[in-house]
Amino acid sequence: MSHTIFILNGPNLNLLGKRQPEIYGAETLADVETRCRALAESLGVTVALFQSNHEGVIIDTIHRAREEAAAIIINPGAFTHTSVAILDALNAYDGLVFECHISNVHKREPFRHHSYVSGRADGVMAGFGTEGYELCLRRACSLLSKA
Ligand code: DQA
Repeated sequence: MSHTIFILNGPNLNLLGKRQPEIYGAETLADVETRCRALAESLGVTVALFQSNHEGVIIDTIHRAREEAAAIIINPGAFTHTSVAILDALNAYDGLVFECHISNVHKREPFRHHSYVSGRADGVMAGFGTEGYELCLRRACSLLSKA
């Protein structure tokens, strides 16, 4: 059976490519989607990509993943550092969780050093640019193929 993996992006990531390119790079979210879809096809999995600026919508999507996805790759954006509600939703999810940050949050302001999501994540990626999404996808597929 082919697995479905959700790739979830939080607030402001719709502006990828335009927003602080010196930190987040020049690629857009559409570019990330194209690359992840191509990689998913070669790995034999299906990806569903979502982006929302709204915490509740992100939580609803995590709830959806309970029925629909074997793994979640999530870049919660600034909600990483603030949202107990997203952590609670991820704790109610049984599949694999990968936290993916484009920038190296540990090299940035101290308020970005703490993540609520890391306590639940099976893996954490930071500072690999937009390639991080593909690295998470490879890792998720590798673990799913052994499960
Ligand atoms: C981010 C890092 C967060 O601190 C920030 O609020 C973001 C993006 C990243 O991908 O590097 O919006 O998650």
